[in-house]
Amino acid sequence: MSSNDRLIIFDTTLRDGEQSPGASMTRDEKIRIAKALERMRVDVIEAGFPVASMGDFEAVKAVAETVRESTVCGLARALDKDIDRAGEALAGAESARIHTFIATSPIHMEAKLRMTPDQVVEQAVAAVRRARRHVADVEFSAEDAGRSEPEFLKRVIEAAIDAGASTINIPDTVGYNVPEQFGALIAELLEDIPNADKATFSVHCHNDLGLAVANSLSAVQNGARQVECTINGLGERAGNAALEEVVMAVRTRRDVFPCDTGLDTTQIVPASRLVSTITGFVVQPNKAIVGANAFAHESGIHQDGVLKSRETYEIMRAEDVGLRQNAIVLGKHSGRNAFRARLRDLGIDFESETELNEAFRRFKLLADRKHEIFDEDLQALVSDVTAEENDFVHLLSLHVCSETGEKPEADIVLQLDGEERSARATGGGPVDAALKAIEAIVDSGANLRLYSVNNITSGTDAQGEVTVRLEKGGRVVNGQGADTDIVVASANAYLHALNRLLHPARRHPQRGDV
Ligand code: KIV
Ligand code: ZN
Repeated sequence: MSSNDRLIIFDTTLRDGEQSPGASMTRDEKIRIAKALERMRVDVIEAGFPVASMGDFEAVKAVAETVRESTVCGLARALDKDIDRAGEALAGAESARIHTFIATSPIHMEAKLRMTPDQVVEQAVAAVRRARRHVADVEFSAEDAGRSEPEFLKRVIEAAIDAGASTINIPDTVGYNVPEQFGALIAELLEDIPNADKATFSVHCHNDLGLAVANSLSAVQNGARQVECTINGLGERAGNAALEEVVMAVRTRRDVFPCDTGLDTTQIVPASRLVSTITGFVVQPNKAIVGANAFAHESGIHQDGVLKSRETYEIMRAEDVGLRQNAIVLGKHSGRNAFRARLRDLGIDFESETELNEAFRRFKLLADRKHEIFDEDLQALVSDVTAEENDFVHLLSLHVCSETGEKPEADIVLQLDGEERSARATGGGPVDAALKAIEAIVDSGANLRLYSVNNITSGTDAQGEVTVRLEKGGRVVNGQGADTDIVVASANAYLHALNRLLHPARRHPQRGDV
């Protein structure tokens, strides 16, 4: 593939995706996602915003030191301290990129930056030059390009390329553009900027009007050769363009798009599930490519057609996105090696034998209660194991009594900071009683913002996966738990969220005012 036929996929799940309220991730969670992106052969992984907090810095550094096949990128405002911090975080990367940005729209320059256009050009040039002192690969973004004056955009971009930027990103920061207009903007920039051939043009579209993917694809048709996107479309406000939709659109409609990605698309569904489990952002069933119903045919006419010839109603193959529909993989009699091998197929490696043993112990417990174990069950089980590190509170036992005409009652025993504590509470239902019993011990002062239950697979013995969102003092965290007993799953999800909210070692420092 020549460089013009290749569409570079720049994933920003760990940076813009993490800016979704409640989607903050720990360093270890970021490493797990980064490994999944590397397995998918994503070209560039934007790992965070190093100057934003110590947690961001550590996470970018760890991802840079772990990932070998993809370029690892750190975000920096067009300020020396941001750029130097990004350079420091990326020092251990095999291939590193600094992504520096400054706003170029009249409203951002006047109201936010309080700078003149001349000052903005000067600062952009200085930033690119400074970034080039750290790395050879520098990306420059004209923030709010979608609402900037095209003539001013051309000026700042030409100067940034002259200063050494090899990627120029055109963000539709507020999701204001529509496809035809956005595509025309890219074509105009490529046509009119004299040194445009010295850089790869990229787009970064937000989904406020539901047009992020359409705008990105229109830009590709007009010459953009990098798309910035996130798994499941996670991101600030309504999110970013969904990676899976961009990649599969380009691949499925080769007749329309003059380029293709280098991605291993069979890793899309596993990565989507991993991100959903870690962030607690449930994927809607009818979500394109990765939703539970994306390849399900309900109507008799459709089922009949697909049985006769798959192409009658399917434009993609489920296997191509890594969907192995409810494949039974393991059961009660499966051994440790089969367990490890299946997890390896799913791209899950354990850091230590202890972690593997703990996961295997839980698998055996689950297999006692659930006859057939699916990939989805294994993924949920592994997430639970890794979530346990550094827990300051965890569940020892739970007894719930629920009877017609009686108020449900829960007796709970927790280990809180090494000490065994118990409580009893009643509630409107068994889940309510269990969560109240937890609060009788922990007294967190947190507000419950979301509670949702999904079945991981089908059948009445399926595990329920519970997501809980808690808020305290403006901090929002998610917690997940999975179990065949949804009261236990709920208690675990609640405790998982409490561990993230209250325990200093698991806290992901919040971004300041950057
Ligand atoms: O949306 C945006 O403009 C951004 C930039 C930092 C690229 O996220
Ligand atoms: Zn963005």
